Amino acid sequence: MHEPNSLILGIESSCDDTAVALVARDGTVAAALTQSQAEIHAQYGGVYPELASRAHAAEIIPTIRQTLAQIDAGPEHVRAIAVTRGPGLIGPLLVGLNAAEGLGLGWSKPVVGVNHLRGHLRSAELDGGNITYPAIVLLASGGHTLMAFMADAKSVEILGGTRDDSVGEAYDKVARMLGLGYPGGPAVDKLAKTGTPDITFPRPMIREGLEFSFSGLKSAVARLVEREPDVDKPTVAASFVAAAMDVLAAKCARALAEREAASLVVVGGVSASPQLRERTAEVCAAAGVDLALPSLKWSTDNGAMIALAGWDYLDMGLVPHLKPATRLSIEQF
Ligand code: KG4
Ligand code: ZN
Repeated sequence: MHEPNSLILGIESSCDDTAVALVARDGTVAAALTQSQAEIHAQYGGVYPELASRAHAAEIIPTIRQTLAQIDAGPEHVRAIAVTRGPGLIGPLLVGLNAAEGLGLGWSKPVVGVNHLRGHLRSAELDGGNITYPAIVLLASGGHTLMAFMADAKSVEILGGTRDDSVGEAYDKVARMLGLGYPGGPAVDKLAKTGTPDITFPRPMIREGLEFSFSGLKSAVARLVEREPDVDKPTVAASFVAAAMDVLAAKCARALAEREAASLVVVGGVSASPQLRERTAEVCAAAGVDLALPSLKWSTDNGAMIALAGWDYLDMGLVPHLKPATRLSIEQF
């Protein structure tokens, strides 16, 4: 049985997952549930914001109820409520924030608004995971792709962001071009395994700095598929993945060469990619640093990472911030 006030209830609704979890101070996940909207958005090949808001509104309370029921938990076990306040879609964010504020009022519990990106950072420390600092971080998701340096668990310095698309977005667009549906990442990965990377797609900005650019790669795939509608899809998928992975691996290696770090942390939805896991393991072996990855279920959006970040916010005594922010830098709280 759980001690009174020993868990944070984390709520995530910034995009297309309604996710809730109960997490202890040490990162142990006591209960978690994620309600995916993938089926709703599949026909649009991407997230349809209005439908996302409606689905969150329908799912948020049942998801909270079922998460509590998993371990027979009640308000007495909850120390605080942590909820994503941004970045993300305004409607979906408001659904989570309103639910959290209502619960906080009803249960007389503090509510902390958490930066989704800081949640991803903490995902590698859920369920016994450990990050050794200083660390280089690659955050690769649908909304973001960036490299950062963390001197310790709470300080984040951005080394490079993306000039255009995120890598997850490129995966999703390529999936759409190949008729693979949404979300594209897992589908492209699966198809890529059945092909060989015989087509040489561009590897944007691979030789310079720590910034990213993926729109050129995406457009190159689009042009090819337009020009040759009968092109072998597994070959295209494998060639796209090879190009994307070369870029991500090269940037990780460069960041590790430029900054003194004890580990590389790879988080965000794209960290679920087996190819990215393999490639970053090679980079770490060559650089002699540790690799920290979230377990697969905490790679994509979830409530547990928000709850764990919520513990940090409580520790730091930050003023609770419950204003939604569609744009929020990882350096902010
Ligand atoms: O972190 P996340 O769940 O949501 C955002 O914060 O954006 O990331 C979602 C992204 C999507 O673009 C999805 O296609 C990608 O992560 N993704 C993957 C895989 N699983 C999810 N990309 C590559 N390989 C995967 N296995
Ligand atoms: Zn995310």
